[in-house]
Amino acid sequence: MFQILTILLLDTQLSMVSALFTVEVPQQLYIAEYGNNVTMECRFPVNGSVNLELLTVVWEQKRPDWLKSKEVYTLRNGKAVPPSQHPDYIGRASLLHSELKLGRAILQIISVKITDAGSYLCLINYRGVDYKYITLEVKASYKRINTQVMRKPGEDMFVFMCQSEGFPLAEVFWQNEKNFNLSGPANTTYTLTADGLYNVTSILTFKPNMSENYSCVFWNKELNGETSAHISTSALMSTQYSGQKSLMSFIIPTCVTVAVLLSALIIFQKRKSFKNGQSRKGRKRKLNPNPKDENRDDTNTQTEALYLSTVTASRDSEIWFCENSSS
Ligand SMILES: *[C@@H]1O[C@H](CO)[C@@H](O)[C@H](O)[C@H]1NC(C)=O
Ligand SMILES: *[C@@H]1O[C@H](CO)[C@@H](O)[C@H](O)[C@H]1NC(C)=O
Ligand SMILES: *[C@@H]1O[C@H](CO)[C@@H](O)[C@H](O)[C@H]1NC(C)=O
Ligand SMILES: *[C@@H]1O[C@H](CO)[C@@H](O)[C@H](O)[C@H]1NC(C)=O
Ligand SMILES: *[C@@H]1O[C@H](CO)[C@@H](O)[C@H](O)[C@H]1NC(C)=O
Ligand SMILES: *[C@@H]1O[C@H](CO)[C@@H](O)[C@H](O)[C@H]1NC(C)=O
Ligand SMILES: *[C@@H]1O[C@H](CO)[C@@H](O)[C@H](O)[C@H]1NC(C)=O
Repeated sequence: MFQILTILLLDTQLSMVSALFTVEVPQQLYIAEYGNNVTMECRFPVNGSVNLELLTVVWEQKRPDWLKSKEVYTLRNGKAVPPSQHPDYIGRASLLHSELKLGRAILQIISVKITDAGSYLCLINYRGVDYKYITLEVKASYKRINTQVMRKPGEDMFVFMCQSEGFPLAEVFWQNEKNFNLSGPANTTYTLTADGLYNVTSILTFKPNMSENYSCVFWNKELNGETSAHISTSALMSTQYSGQKSLMSFIIPTCVTVAVLLSALIIFQKRKSFKNGQSRKGRKRKLNPNPKDENRDDTNTQTEALYLSTVTASRDSEIWFCENSSS
């Protein structure tokens, strides 16, 4: 309230004092990455040493759709005025005090949020009053892309999934190695996270060419930036992947378990051969509740994607093989 009044009064005063006292901004636009720190600077004239008791600095955030601006940081007569600070900025916004004696009013905001974007007013009263506006844009690149590949049960189709969070909203393209867009529409949906980021998930169901690798590209139109994740299909088919001992030690016990289960079922079947239909149902039921790996923490590295798809594919083919031999 007080600030708005001050500013209104200022406009009339300015014509008289601006010749004597002007605030300058070395940079009008700042672009910060979500989660990083940003410093924004206003300069004011000082003549020799600064008498802090005469200095008032006000930083406010404004947006066109807000009735009231948010008070980011206020220094009145050389002292911080914390009670009036907006809750969004408590513990996150500060003035670099050591710079004041050089005539630099530098606002630092740590751990930048999407909601910090907007217009910032810096008003300085020091043997004269002036203010300027600075614009802050916040972006969040889609740097962590989680990938997952699943085989559609009973079909030759695979479900490719890529998920990531960022800002602003990205478009997702699916490409093969030659950078040709894949035909067949992907289903791309998004939700908003509590932090104001877009949580984008793109799902493509198709029959991949096993001799090609694929990638999903998150394209941020406004920033003209893109990130991508690659999905290897050579791993979908090959049941062996040398050099991954942990993987083999996971697959072998799985197949052994499946084999034991199957032999048990075959014995069971033979005993109750007259109830053919029922035992078939039972076989399906026992085979399915196995994929523990669906709960796996799917991080986005290529190796992880490879790992996951390899596990899925190889287990599928083992089961396929076992089922064939039992019938
Ligand atoms: C942001 O500033 C805080 C406090 O000065 C510091 O602890 C943190 O490491 C900084 N973060 C980055 C990403 O520079
Ligand atoms: C700067 O300070 C000196 C001494 O204090 C004074 O003589 C001079 O007029 C001041 N200059 C301005 C521009 O205020
Ligand atoms: C893929 O599609 C996007 C969007 O439609 C387009 O910008 C891009 O140029 C296309 N790439 C190729 C290789 O066709
Ligand atoms: C896309 O996915 C969403 C959620 O998974 C679903 O509700 C929607 O029906 C799907 N759209 C198409 C065209 O498949
Ligand atoms: C993003 O969406 C996916 C599913 O679409 C969900 O599993 C994940 O928890 C979401 N992440 C956040 C941070 O909301
Ligand atoms: C699969 O990809 C290979 C190599 O790019 C190509 O020679 C082949 O024709 C493709 N097959 C199909 C069915 O698209
Ligand atoms: C697909 O990616 C894998 C792993 O990155 C690589 O070994 C393989 O050669 C690639 N396949 C093709 C056809 O480029």
